[in-house]
Amino acid sequence: MAENNQNAMAGSDPAKPKPAVPGAAKQAASGAAKPAAPGAAKQAASGAAKPAVSNSGVYKPPVERADSNPYKDSRISSVSAWFQERFYVMLPVIDYLKKKEVPKHRLSFWYYFGGLTLFFFLIQIITGLLLMQYYKPTEAEAFASFVFIQREISFGWLIRQIHAWSANLMVLMAFIHMFSTFFMKSYRKPRELMWVSGFVLLVLSLGFGFTGYLLPWNELAFFATQVGTETPKVAPGGAFLVNILRGGEEVSGETLTRMFSLHVVLLPGLLMLVLSAHLLLVQVLGTSAPIGYKESGMIKGYEKFFPTFLAKDAIGWIIGFVLLVYLAAVFPWGIGVKANALNPAPMGIKPEWYFWAQFQLLKDLKFEGGELVAIALITVGALVWILVPFIDFKASREEKSPIFTMLGLVFLAFLLINTYRVLAEYGW
Ligand code: HEM
Repeated sequence: MAENNQNAMAGSDPAKPKPAVPGAAKQAASGAAKPAAPGAAKQAASGAAKPAVSNSGVYKPPVERADSNPYKDSRISSVSAWFQERFYVMLPVIDYLKKKEVPKHRLSFWYYFGGLTLFFFLIQIITGLLLMQYYKPTEAEAFASFVFIQREISFGWLIRQIHAWSANLMVLMAFIHMFSTFFMKSYRKPRELMWVSGFVLLVLSLGFGFTGYLLPWNELAFFATQVGTETPKVAPGGAFLVNILRGGEEVSGETLTRMFSLHVVLLPGLLMLVLSAHLLLVQVLGTSAPIGYKESGMIKGYEKFFPTFLAKDAIGWIIGFVLLVYLAAVFPWGIGVKANALNPAPMGIKPEWYFWAQFQLLKDLKFEGGELVAIALITVGALVWILVPFIDFKASREEKSPIFTMLGLVFLAFLLINTYRVLAEYGW
């Protein structure tokens, strides 16, 4: 709950006078006023370090804990003191972040998936930048440049494979993160915008997958994009949008250029913007705990976000990286054959696995007007899903909301069953 950090904010020394000059901040920060006894000053600032109960009956942890090393501020290195003197306006922020805490309970494990999603996104940026040095986004050269990267450039194959695998893992982690925050009802007040921004992040991540799929310009990608951009045409205004996306009536070299610019400019820009808002909210509102956990004493304590939680996050990232390199080296993605619009579409054209559920739905509704029904169902479903924090009133009142848990289970079952059906029919 936000109370963790609201407390942090409330406890950020309201009594401490604002420094009149930059130098004063340095003095204050470098421990000019040493506490008389360990923890004494902090205790005094926070009033009392007693667990409190808020109006909503939610347990609040004590904000100020006795610091095991109250004199550490006096050892600030000269470099950090130099920066603190210049960026002294940031001191309250740093102070605030130092106080951020993460609740420990039996479901704490699920908190690591947001960080893992972030990690794979960072890998995408680095490897994507490297690939861009050799990739050529034209109909004539795209496929050949991929073959060149894969076969001729030192470690080019590894970078390309890591990029492809990391994209898949990023989407997988985002799905796990979304469902774990859903079932823990982390979206409830005041975290509605974390949920909404998170959903936008997922859509953008899927957009990355869709636009990136065409870039190797191989047969499979070409025809999958053809099929994928055909369906939305039946929706009102869909044909217009598809024409813009394709850069004409058909999938062509124009489409490749557009997908490329979306993939490397628009989507990364938008994603970074929304991600900044998402992460800022995470810092400001803090990490939630499942409904009822505080009241029933299921919180085993709190750990500092910095450095404890972050250090554990880093262990997750190392495991993620090892897995990534293993998958990239042992299960490489193929290159296929160069796309040729004049060839007939090969058998078994299917999109990336994260679109299989929708793909199967379209296959199931094969009657006249079925495509439109499928699009309407997906749109309404997505709207309900994004609005969940605003319609789950019970969760906002810190009450259990089994109907929404059921909704999540139905949605999860739809995704898993349909994905499995495509796998069973087409194979990987
Ligand atoms: C690129 C995709 C995403 C990234 C990089 C990301 C990153 C993060 C990080 C680092 C956290 C804090 C640690 C944690 O609780 O896991 C977080 C929290 C959260 N995220 Fe995301 N996220 C992404 C997508 C999503 C999606 C798809 C949703 C849901 C639709 C979502 C909803 C939330 C919520 C509600 C929280 C607060 C959790 C709590 O306080 O208990 N995020 N996110």
